[in-house]
Amino acid sequence: MVRSPVEAPQHILSLLDHLHNLSIEQEDRLKGDKARFVSTDVSNTASDGGQVGETTAPTKSLENDSSFDDLMRDKLIALDKDKCHFVYQLIRATGATNVIEAGTSFGISTIYLALAVGENKKRLDAADRRRSKPGVIATENEPSKVVKARQHWKQCGPEVEREIDLREGNLLVTLATNVTQDVDLLLLDIWTPLALPTVKLVQPRLRPGAVILVDHTLTAAHGYKELLDYFSEPANGFRSLTLPYSGGFEMTVYEPRK
Ligand SMILES: C[S@@+](CC[C@H](N)C(=O)[O-])C[C@H]1O[C@@H](n2cnc3c(N)ncnc32)[C@H](O)[C@@H]1O
Repeated sequence: MVRSPVEAPQHILSLLDHLHNLSIEQEDRLKGDKARFVSTDVSNTASDGGQVGETTAPTKSLENDSSFDDLMRDKLIALDKDKCHFVYQLIRATGATNVIEAGTSFGISTIYLALAVGENKKRLDAADRRRSKPGVIATENEPSKVVKARQHWKQCGPEVEREIDLREGNLLVTLATNVTQDVDLLLLDIWTPLALPTVKLVQPRLRPGAVILVDHTLTAAHGYKELLDYFSEPANGFRSLTLPYSGGFEMTVYEPRK
């Protein structure tokens, strides 16, 4: 078994394992139920390889589909554990202390972000550390998920809670103000139609060399087409690489032209 790179107390590691397992069980059940819930639009996405329970499912026409929102309301749909480990490792390696998460759900990936940023902040002197703002901006628009996420972070304890600034509501509104000028990393774990608008909103706040991670860019290539086209236009200042995690995990570096 591969050893986890995550440095955290055992109660947090156990909680993370438990939540990842719950998420996988839910997704397996959801895949079984897919035929009952899925509209033509989702079926088309699924024919690209996408699956309900992954963030690949929603298409533009489904964004406002209340049956889809109802279906997803109690679903964790957590980022896969190996991807969470990679994100944690990358944050530790780059020394990132300003991270944005688009799509928080029950707050599982957020725990990894908070732990990694918290470790990086140990390099600051004590006074700077005390003065520092939470290092992770999390975003969630479903009130019941906000409650669950906060419960999970409380179970983790202050080392996680103090690093998270949860913005409740539509992220296209909540990320429009009060975002630091030097964002190190943006994790996009969100419905595909929101991906490009989120990038464009956050782009002026990215520091040169900032990293954007996007889940399921292979299985949801259709949904991400506009985003991937935007990344591949040299004038926009991005360099992109698809990492071979399940469904594809896009790692994009921002290097604006001078
Ligand atoms: C794939 S889940 C995030 C999973 C989470 N990153 C994790 O690993 O635990 C995507 C989340 O985005 C939320 N969401 C969808 N549209 C949103 C919006 N406009 N603003 C904020 N959150 C939104 C959904 O409610 C859902 O919980």
